[in-house]
Amino acid sequence: MSDGRGEQIHRDGAGVSAPIRHAVAVDLPEPVIRAATLADLDALVALEHAAFATDRAERRAIRHAILSPTMDVLAALLDVPDGAPDPVLVGAAVLERRRGSRIARLASIAVAPNRGGLGLGGKILDAAEAQARAHGCDRLRLEVRADNGAGIRLYERRGYVRFAVRPDYYEDGMEAWRYERAL
Ligand SMILES: CC(C)(COP(=O)(O)OP(=O)(O)OC[C@H]1O[C@@H](n2cnc3c(N)ncnc32)[C@H](O)[C@@H]1OP(=O)(O)O)[C@@H](O)C(=O)NCCC(=O)NCCS
Repeated sequence: MSDGRGEQIHRDGAGVSAPIRHAVAVDLPEPVIRAATLADLDALVALEHAAFATDRAERRAIRHAILSPTMDVLAALLDVPDGAPDPVLVGAAVLERRRGSRIARLASIAVAPNRGGLGLGGKILDAAEAQARAHGCDRLRLEVRADNGAGIRLYERRGYVRFAVRPDYYEDGMEAWRYERAL
């Protein structure tokens, strides 16, 4: 598992702005969730900066993840009603696998701050779990900042169980809570 240094993607928390709570998901279109390509790199970097205040993945780490045979970068896209020609990236997730292991790791999940609280995080998590299962994994693990209310709520509501705490895990010294779920 990543120790969060170097090229590894490591941050599951520190959202820049808290998502809107109790927002009503009126007419939220279904996102298209697909494997990211290098053509998504600029948008993924922008999302990373918008969604995370600390422990951001650098561009080269995101690029590495897109190209890695043991990682999956999922991109969630929505058509926008204002006539923009291309769908907009509204969320993403990064899944890591290890050869010989049936435990996958959700290295990252993010939703654009202006789309938070509408259920997109749950849909991206669904897609990441399906992708892990498709690779033959039977468990998904992740770390989340102990102060990340939205993330913890998302995971616990979906049956993730906290199995460990890692002190001083993030750049600012915040501890990580490690969660796991059978797929
Ligand atoms: C965590 C994140 C991906 C969740 O995405 P989302 O689209 O807002 O998620 P959902 O709309 O599916 O909501 C998840 C749950 O968190 C709740 N929630 C939303 N904002 C919250 C907040 N500020 N505090 C506590 N709970 C919150 C929602 O009500 C929902 O719970 P519910 O299903 O019981 O209603 C998103 O907030 C995000 O990108 N945050 C910044 C990046 C980050 O921290 N990522 C890693 C998390 S480990």
